Amino acid sequence: MLDAFDFVIFGGAGDLALRKLIPGLYRAHREGSLPANARIIPTCRNTQMVAEYKDKVRAAAEKHLNADEFVAADWDEFAQRLFPVFVDIGTKDEHWDALATLLNSSGNSQRVFYLSTPPSVFSICCKHLHETGLITANARVVVEKPLGYDAKTAEEINSQIAEYFNEEAIFRIDHYLGKETVQNLLALRFANGMFEHLWDAKSIDHVQISISETVGLEGRAGFYDGAGALRDMVQNHILQLLCLVAMESPNKMTAERIRAEKLKVLESLRPLTGNTVKYNTVRGQYVAGEMDGKMVPGYLDELGQPSNTETFVAIRAYIDNSRWANVPFYLRTGKRMKQRFAEIVIQYKDVAHRVYPESAGAATPNRLIIRLQPEESIKIIMVSKDLEKHETHLRPVVLNLNFADTYKDFYSDAYKRLMLDAAAGDASLFIHRAEVDAAWSWIDPIIEAWQRPENKPHGYMAGSWGPQASSQLMASDRRRWFSID
Ligand code: BG6
Repeated sequence: MLDAFDFVIFGGAGDLALRKLIPGLYRAHREGSLPANARIIPTCRNTQMVAEYKDKVRAAAEKHLNADEFVAADWDEFAQRLFPVFVDIGTKDEHWDALATLLNSSGNSQRVFYLSTPPSVFSICCKHLHETGLITANARVVVEKPLGYDAKTAEEINSQIAEYFNEEAIFRIDHYLGKETVQNLLALRFANGMFEHLWDAKSIDHVQISISETVGLEGRAGFYDGAGALRDMVQNHILQLLCLVAMESPNKMTAERIRAEKLKVLESLRPLTGNTVKYNTVRGQYVAGEMDGKMVPGYLDELGQPSNTETFVAIRAYIDNSRWANVPFYLRTGKRMKQRFAEIVIQYKDVAHRVYPESAGAATPNRLIIRLQPEESIKIIMVSKDLEKHETHLRPVVLNLNFADTYKDFYSDAYKRLMLDAAAGDASLFIHRAEVDAAWSWIDPIIEAWQRPENKPHGYMAGSWGPQASSQLMASDRRRWFSID
């Protein structure tokens, strides 16, 4: 069991807190993962919000939790852990002292400050925490993406936080790392000889990493238009998945060793600059289209103004080390796509010598397909003799491990997992500052090249698989996106 902790959420009434953080902590409470004295201290921007907080958060929980998870008696018990307080983050006044009194009254040894706020206030918030004497030896700060807009702004944000917290106390969240299936990637690779021995350029033809979403702007136009899919999804989630697929085995499963191995992958990414960007990347922006039998507006209609921001990206990337020499990693993400899923496809090379004649059936490559969401599964596509035919005929068959069959009550809540890790001081699933820097160093030149007029986004219909150019990117390598099958 964890040591008792106080969990302060700055921006406690914001969208993330209501949709993810409080429901995650409620789940942790229900499953008995919270120590008896653990307290949750959401900060609100005024006293009226404090007065209304418990009602508001309850209504939000009823909406965002699964129907069978919200149990009134459990919620009432959980709500006793909630201590909403008024804190004006930008003004160092008596409310900060009241927060200090509240924290110092508990005797809880561990403290987490979750900055669920725009990065523009990270620095002032840390400064006020410091001036109020709240940054104790067991205090940690959790920061949400976006961590910067480019390498320079990320560096500024990281430096500002580093003025008040040591690197070991800074927990940069990427919620994809909290997904159990994402962590399972490491178990799959490093605890199974059959995969570990077949995990390099000798055996693997290419890798596809896709995060496809059906949602559009979801009321986040202001943020999203300034970011775009490359910054919002590739710089963090997709590159983290790529690290887990491509990294060397850490000699121990510690935060330090895992993060060091991930960093080496990021630093080995072949830079995409200038003219190579056009050849290796595709940008897209959705236009109106039909989804689930209904027309949905295009990005510009939703936004209400002209914009070149991309809502889709596809990239051909290479990792320049001996394990992955010349193995393409195709990365893809988009909004308003035909289906919601996140998936990694490892496509194996063909057999060295085909003994079966063409007439025995089309050769299908072996594929290992790791589905991260919506369902969690691992599939292996193999070739088998068609048992129903007398003459030799080959056909693809699927070995399918669906985790829902093995883990009946399994429900992955990435935020719950990561908040508990932060409370325990385990940084394995959080991002090191050097990773943020390395990821931006690879992303920045792509963004720079995209400013050229010839790199404007291609249109794609909402409800489709993205722009034609994305299929062409694969076709030019005689490959195709697997899920389009
Ligand atoms: C967030 C992005 O980090 O991840 C969103 O800002 C995106 O734009 C979301 O929708 C996707 O997360 P998930 O867990 O729903 O795949």
